[in-house]
Amino acid sequence: MARQKTRIRKAKADPNAMWGGRYSLGPAEIMEKINASIDFDRRLYAQDIAGSMAHADMLVAQGILTAKDGQAIKRGLKQVRSEIESGKFRFSTKLEDIHFNVEARLTALIGSAGGRLHTARSRNDQIALDVRLWLRDTVDRLEAMLRDLQKALIDRAEEYAATIMPGFTHLQTAQPITFGHHLLAYVEMVGRDRSRLRDCRERMNESPLGAAALAGSPHPIDPRKTAKALGFDRPMANSLDAVSDRDYVVEFLGAASLTAVHLSRLAEEIVIWCSAPFRFIALSDAFTTGSSIMPQKRNPDAAELARGKVGRIVGAFVALCTIMKGLPLTYGKDMQEDKEPLFDAADALELCVAAMTGMVRDLKANPERMRAVAAADYSVATDLADWLVRTVGLPFRQAHHVTGTLVGKAAAKGVDLDKLSLAEMQAVEPRITRAVYRVLTVEASVAARKSLGGTAPVNVARAVEEARRRFLGSGR
Ligand code: ARG
Repeated sequence: MARQKTRIRKAKADPNAMWGGRYSLGPAEIMEKINASIDFDRRLYAQDIAGSMAHADMLVAQGILTAKDGQAIKRGLKQVRSEIESGKFRFSTKLEDIHFNVEARLTALIGSAGGRLHTARSRNDQIALDVRLWLRDTVDRLEAMLRDLQKALIDRAEEYAATIMPGFTHLQTAQPITFGHHLLAYVEMVGRDRSRLRDCRERMNESPLGAAALAGSPHPIDPRKTAKALGFDRPMANSLDAVSDRDYVVEFLGAASLTAVHLSRLAEEIVIWCSAPFRFIALSDAFTTGSSIMPQKRNPDAAELARGKVGRIVGAFVALCTIMKGLPLTYGKDMQEDKEPLFDAADALELCVAAMTGMVRDLKANPERMRAVAAADYSVATDLADWLVRTVGLPFRQAHHVTGTLVGKAAAKGVDLDKLSLAEMQAVEPRITRAVYRVLTVEASVAARKSLGGTAPVNVARAVEEARRRFLGSGR
C-alpha cells in the first residue's frame, strides 16, 4: 500500500470563496482535509434545505428579504435538492460542509439572491438545527421500530404463555417459569427504552434558529415563526446555549446505549438457547449462517452481531461526552466530531432492533426440552419449602432447612424430589403428608405463582392483554 503523504504542503489556491475576504491564500491541503465534513454531513441535506426554506420564509415575512428574492431562493433550493437526490450534485471538499455546498450551488443557480439567504444566520445555528431535525426523525423511526419489537415479543409471549422453561439466577436453574413470562420481561425493558426516546425527543424539540453565530441578530427576525414552521415546540431561550448545546445528541446516545444493552441481553439469551447443550429454541435458515469448514453448523450470527454492536453504540456515547467535556461556550469545531459517532450509532441501533425483531418472530421453541431442563436440578425445592410453611406451619427458615436435607437425600440417591417415598420424607419431617407430591411438579410450581407480576400462565395471558393495551394502544 502506498504510504500516506504526511508532508505539509501549503496550497497556492485562492482563498475560500465563502469566507476568504481577509485571506490572500487558500488553506493547506491538510487543513482542508481535517476541516471538511461534507463526506458525512451531506446526509443532512434534506434538513439543511428544509431549514433554509423556513428561514427564507421568515426573512420575507419580516420584510428582511423581498418576496422576489424569497421566491428565487426557494425555487433554487428545490432545484439543489433534486440535484442531490438524483445524484447529479457535485459535492466539494473545498466548500467544507453541507451548508456551504448547498449555498454555493444555490448562488450559482439564482445569482446574488442566494447570498442573501445567510442573513441573520450562521452555520452555528444552522448545524444545530439540521442535527435536531435529523435526530427527531430518527428517534420517531426508532420508537416505531421498538414498538414492532414489542409487538413481536407480545405475540410470541401469548403463544408460549404456558410453556415451561427453567428460570435462572447466576445462570443456574432456579425455579420453573413460563417462556411467555420471560419474553414479557423484555417488553417492559423496551417500553422503558421507548419512553426514554420520547423523553429526549421532547427536550430536543426546540429550535436553535435565530441564535446566529452566538449572540442573536440585529435584524428584526422572528425565531418563533421558524420554530413553528419546522415543527418545534418553541425557539431556544438563550442564543449561547442554542449554538453550544449538544445535549440532544448525548441524551439520544445514552438512551440508545441502554437500548442496545437490553438488546444484547436478549441476543445473548438467543445465542445460549440455540446452543446444542441447551436446545431451547431454534432459529430458521433465515437467521443463521453456516460454517466454511464445519458442515453441521448453524451459527446465530445476527444475534451475536446485535450483542457486539453495543460496543460502537456505547463508544459513541463515550465519544460525545468526551468531546463536550470542558468545552468553553459557545461553538467549537470540536463539535463537528459529533456526527460520525451519532450516525454510526443510530444506524447500528436500527439494524439491531430490526434483526432482533426478525429473530423473535423467527424463533421456534422446543417445549419438551425446556420442560425437561426446568424439571431437573431440584427446581421445585422452593415449592416444597413453601408447602411446609403453608401446611405444616413451619417458619420459612426451618422449612428451608428441612427441604435442604431432603434435597441432599434425593441427590445422594440420584433421584428427583418426588421420587423420595413418603416414609423417607417423614423420616426428616414427620408431619409431611402424601399431599406434598401435588406441589412437586413444574406445572404446579408455575401455576401457583399467581402473585402480581408472577409467572403463572393465567397471569401471562392477562399480562399479554395488558401489554397490548399499554404499549400497542390495544391494536393487535
Ligand atoms: N460543519 C460544522 C459542524 O458540523 C458546521 C458549523 C461550522 N461553523 C463554523 N463556524 N465553522 O459543526
